[in-house]
Amino acid sequence: MHELPVVLLGLGSVGRALVRQIVGNRALHASEYGLILRLLAVTDRDGAVVSFDGRGISDAQLLDLIAYKEGRGRLADLPAGGRQDDLAAVIDVAGQPGAVVVDCTATEETAPALLYALHKKYKVVLANKKPLTIDQEGI
Ligand SMILES: NC(=O)c1ccc[n+]([C@@H]2O[C@H](COP(=O)([O-])OP(=O)(O)OC[C@H]3O[C@@H](n4cnc5c(N)ncnc54)[C@H](OP(=O)(O)O)[C@@H]3O)[C@@H](O)[C@H]2O)c1
Repeated sequence: MHELPVVLLGLGSVGRALVRQIVGNRALHASEYGLILRLLAVTDRDGAVVSFDGRGISDAQLLDLIAYKEGRGRLADLPAGGRQDDLAAVIDVAGQPGAVVVDCTATEETAPALLYALHKKYKVVLANKKPLTIDQEGI
């Protein structure tokens, strides 16, 4: 079984749908692709929940986080979460070799964090197109 570490930026409509898809399709991912997607961190605009032991946030906690965000909660206010003002630092703490950073935010402000992820040789996947529209010189 191949384990794929994932750091998810943004828990809005798209980020929450992605988490639901991951949690709801574990059996399919395992049987069809031999794949386990491990969510190492999820973030919103000023907070994050990080799996500090590197084993991934549990599915039960992920579903709780989705429900919490649907109620417009902030990850920064959760006992299991905390404030963040630097997504690159979250990637640095949570990332593992072979990680995929998924940008489901709606801001170009993720650009430095995405470049940092590439610098770490992580893969980057974007639902958010805004970082592709800015001048990357000097970031
Ligand atoms: N919705 C669609 O059907 C669709 C389809 C294709 C592509 N997209 C693209 O996918 C992306 C996500 O769409 P969405 O509908 O899920 O947007 P959304 O519901 O507005 O969610 C955006 C997420 O990004 C976070 N965020 C906003 N500003 C941030 C910042 N400066 N730093 C870090 N995080 C920040 C928000 O945090 P808070 O939760 O704290 O507000 C929220 O979790 C967008 O770029 C959109 O263009 C969307």
